[in-house]
Amino acid sequence: HHKDILREDKLMQICHLLKDNIDYYDWVGFYFRNGDKEELILGPYAGEPTDHTVIPFGKGICGQVAVSNQNFVVPDVKAQDNYIACSFTVKSEIVIPLFVEGKNIGQIDIDSNILDPFTEMDERFLEFVNAEVAKLF
Ligand code: SME
Repeated sequence: HHKDILREDKLMQICHLLKDNIDYYDWVGFYFRNGDKEELILGPYAGEPTDHTVIPFGKGICGQVAVSNQNFVVPDVKAQDNYIACSFTVKSEIVIPLFVEGKNIGQIDIDSNILDPFTEMDERFLEFVNAEVAKLF
């Protein structure tokens, strides 16, 4: 569908814009719920390719956010036991759920190679980004 292709393109541009302009954003991607299934599917992203294109609800930081509907800031990934490693260089992560008409339909996921870089400013900023992205749905 034409509208889906335009949206994918815009999401891809957002990923690159964020990764290229914020020095501690080293991987930026969107995951979306796969229909009524309790799993996330990788959408547009910028950064190294990842093996984790499907993530069951509850698994990893992303899977936990799919269930909790809450922001998840991880200052140090080594301190998390329910964590899916995508790259050995990643030290921290932030995941912000994406709501469309009150429903959690996915999330923006950002990995950083820096320890503990994310602040409440990142949370507020990424909530704003997701609110803009929600308008594309
Ligand atoms: N680290 C994530 C998996 C996705 S990769 O970061 C791209 C997690 O624990 O859910």
